[in-house]
Amino acid sequence: MEIIQVKGKVSESTIIVGESILNLSKYIPSKGVFIITDENVDKLYSDKFSNFPKFVVKAGEASKNLLSTSEIYRWLLDAGADRSSFVVGIGGGVVCDIAGFVASTYMRGVEFGFVATSLLAQVDASVGGKNGVDLDGYKNIVGTFNQPKFVICDTSMLKTLPAVELSNGFAEMVKHCLIADANDFSFMEENIGKLMNRDVDVITHLVAKSVRIKASIVTADEHEKGERKKLNLGHTWGHAVEKILSLPHGQSVSIGLEFSARLSAEKGLLEKRDYMRLMNLLRELQLPICTSINPLHIFDALTKDKKKIDDSIDFILMKGIGNVVIERLQLNEIKNFIEH
Ligand SMILES: NC(=O)c1ccc[n+]([C@@H]2O[C@H](COP(=O)([O-])OP(=O)(O)OC[C@H]3O[C@@H](n4cnc5c(N)ncnc54)[C@H](O)[C@@H]3O)[C@@H](O)[C@H]2O)c1
Ligand SMILES: [Zn+2]
Repeated sequence: MEIIQVKGKVSESTIIVGESILNLSKYIPSKGVFIITDENVDKLYSDKFSNFPKFVVKAGEASKNLLSTSEIYRWLLDAGADRSSFVVGIGGGVVCDIAGFVASTYMRGVEFGFVATSLLAQVDASVGGKNGVDLDGYKNIVGTFNQPKFVICDTSMLKTLPAVELSNGFAEMVKHCLIADANDFSFMEENIGKLMNRDVDVITHLVAKSVRIKASIVTADEHEKGERKKLNLGHTWGHAVEKILSLPHGQSVSIGLEFSARLSAEKGLLEKRDYMRLMNLLRELQLPICTSINPLHIFDALTKDKKKIDDSIDFILMKGIGNVVIERLQLNEIKNFIEH
């Protein structure tokens, strides 16, 4: 078990990797606890949190909106939740984002914690204090920065995660290694078989490393003024892919990582050998590295990115494996790169 601290400006979060959901009661008050979960997690694990009142949302991104949050506010009101109540989100990134947002806004904010049950939630969504919901097709457009009191990453729960969801989480894990840890990149390469078999020790080690990387970046720059932008590695292109092809997030990020790596190689920042290592690793993790559509369509979506600044956009490029740089690139330069 590893304990990692995330220090936000106003609050702090303790992330416990390798802890069991069965020990949840160690982290929550003895009364006034309200659980938010989704139907899949509820079906598989409800016996582990049967003592508490719970609200079950439909599984999937479609639940991450103001309609379901309003239903949850009403449920909390009817159930007598007050300012001293404690909300626990038990689920993947969708549940964590909803629960964090509801808890941060109900009666101007009550305390909350997470049991992160998907790999993506463990290495990414539950870490960093961003929470929120979607509106009219805009992702995460309504939300807050607020740290959960605790996050339990019970890696044994990943046994029941669908394979495609496991791969989604691997994409973010690879991203963290590319940003800050060449050794763990090699560790992933050497342990592919165990990773794909969900070996609890290997996954726990890598989840803890990923959380440490994200936690240190978030602690340095909670509100994404500079350093935190590094976490967008693979996401600038990846978001455009996600928008056009409606691929799962991790698959889109994987395609975004390939684009960023190719651009980095073109600029002399990444050796061909390291580019090939990354491609092999993504393939072995069952992640796609290209699409069949014309990249100029993806470029069109990129030009509408909300992070665009005039005619340029900040791209995160790889300087070898384990190191990245933020470069402001002209959209024209990117278009030329795609065309040639
Ligand atoms: N707040 C942040 O910083 C942040 C960062 C990254 C992603 N996100 C958000 O996270 C969401 C994606 O998270 P996700 O990929 O976990 O999606 P998700 O929550 O929809 O979970 C994926 C699927 O796996 C199921 N599932 C979860 N745990 C399971 C388990 N142990 N066994 C079996 N099934 C399980 C869920 O029911 C769901 O069907 C997106 O909404 C994204 O915007 C937020
Ligand atoms: Zn992501």
